[in-house]
Amino acid sequence: MLADKDRIFTNVYGFQPWNLDAARKRGDWDNTKDLLARGQDAIIDEMKASGLRGRGGAGFPTGMKWSFMPKEAPKDQHGNPRPSFLVINADESEPGSCKDREIMRHDPHKLIEGALVAGFAMRARAAYIYIRGEYIREAETLFAAVQEAYDAGLLGKNAAGSGYDFDVFVHRGAGAYICGEETAMIESLEGKKGQPRLKPPFPAGAGLYGCPTTVNNVESIAVAPTILRRGASWFSSFGRENNKGTKLFQISGHVEKPCVVEEAMGIPFRELIEKHCGGIRGGWDNLLAVIPGGSSVPLVPAEEILDAPMDFDGLKAVGSGLGTAAVIVMDKSTDIVRAISRISAFYKHESCGQCTPCREGTGWMWRVMERLREGKADKSEIDMLFEVTKQVEGHTICALGDAAAWPIQGLIRHFRPELERRIAEREGTLQEAAE
Ligand code: NAI
Ligand code: SF4
Repeated sequence: MLADKDRIFTNVYGFQPWNLDAARKRGDWDNTKDLLARGQDAIIDEMKASGLRGRGGAGFPTGMKWSFMPKEAPKDQHGNPRPSFLVINADESEPGSCKDREIMRHDPHKLIEGALVAGFAMRARAAYIYIRGEYIREAETLFAAVQEAYDAGLLGKNAAGSGYDFDVFVHRGAGAYICGEETAMIESLEGKKGQPRLKPPFPAGAGLYGCPTTVNNVESIAVAPTILRRGASWFSSFGRENNKGTKLFQISGHVEKPCVVEEAMGIPFRELIEKHCGGIRGGWDNLLAVIPGGSSVPLVPAEEILDAPMDFDGLKAVGSGLGTAAVIVMDKSTDIVRAISRISAFYKHESCGQCTPCREGTGWMWRVMERLREGKADKSEIDMLFEVTKQVEGHTICALGDAAAWPIQGLIRHFRPELERRIAEREGTLQEAAE
């Protein structure tokens, strides 16, 4: 189990105040000027050496992403330099995910200091924190914490006495899940309808207002100052190759004590649940399946997840993914078909509608899922549904199409007998009624 001294988020439960005084006592904003004095390249090299992979779900190496930002400002058509931007993705909407909420609620200064450090490293002039519209209290806290930082001279002109000018703006979303996709977020910040753009170009080439932009998740940014203070080798001493560091896990569903907890990457599933959640409701024999990384990843049946290391590679090996580390635990009382059908309804509702396989496919898949739930489908439709998920997967502009397809694939892969049982049961009932 991760020792308390190795936790980055020491106020994740809000036992202490979030404000600047308390944050300083926890070590935030401690000689930030000296961190910046190391220079942009040194900061990026340290982040690369730490092995930190993006904590928003995709796991792209953070230091490498920062290094894509131009060292020389590109020029516009009139020869004027164009600014670079950092966009912080706080539009946490993945069903099951609630870790960024806890950071913004109880430890906002980690995020704000991280914004300055990361923004400086990538030569950005400002950071935009795009926060999920439903996070009303967290947005209030964030606005207040940013103001505190300005009042203390930590942001704005000569931020933290570094000689670097840096602004942080908080922007509230309006309730669309798709605005969490990085290019839809950029569109939304520009005042347009939140719809993903085709990539490439990636945001580092053409992002906000066409300027070089990096979009990072809240947790990825909030851990950066601690990594720099304690050193890349300290951070990379946790976890294993390709899966380094500590991570916030969010465990919900049928455990005794749902919680958000920071642990070392790669902790085995059983240990995570035993140590932090008091075990499975009704005991381990009662575990049915787990969605280990938020609703976008396939479920894993009980017997396959018990010893799985909770990291990118460990969960890939059991046919799923770490995603946001939102661990949704389902015991044997769960109607698993209904649970996945509910997820399908979510993606249908949140599709932005600009590409046909997603717009049409999400609705089609959900309708079949509902008929399967009721046992009203024909047995042949199970294979047909699987085939449709394959037509959606990889054929859309953004990852929402994949996210809609994968949970259904997981269900069919692992729970086909349950789907067939429902169909047979209903057919039996109809036959009985006819006789
Ligand atoms: P992605 O793999 O397309 O990109 C990840 C990041 O790496 C992006 O910032 C992208 O710009 C960058 N990148 C990738 N290849 C690059 C290249 N060749 N050059 C430069 N930059 C490159 O994944 P995406 O669509 O950004 O995220 C999908 C994930 O998001 C899913 O796995 C899901 O788990 C997660 N997710 C999280 C949510 C949340 O609430 N936190 C909500 C929905 C999905
Ligand atoms: Fe929009 Fe879906 Fe296409 Fe993504 S995959 S751009 S959400 S229609």
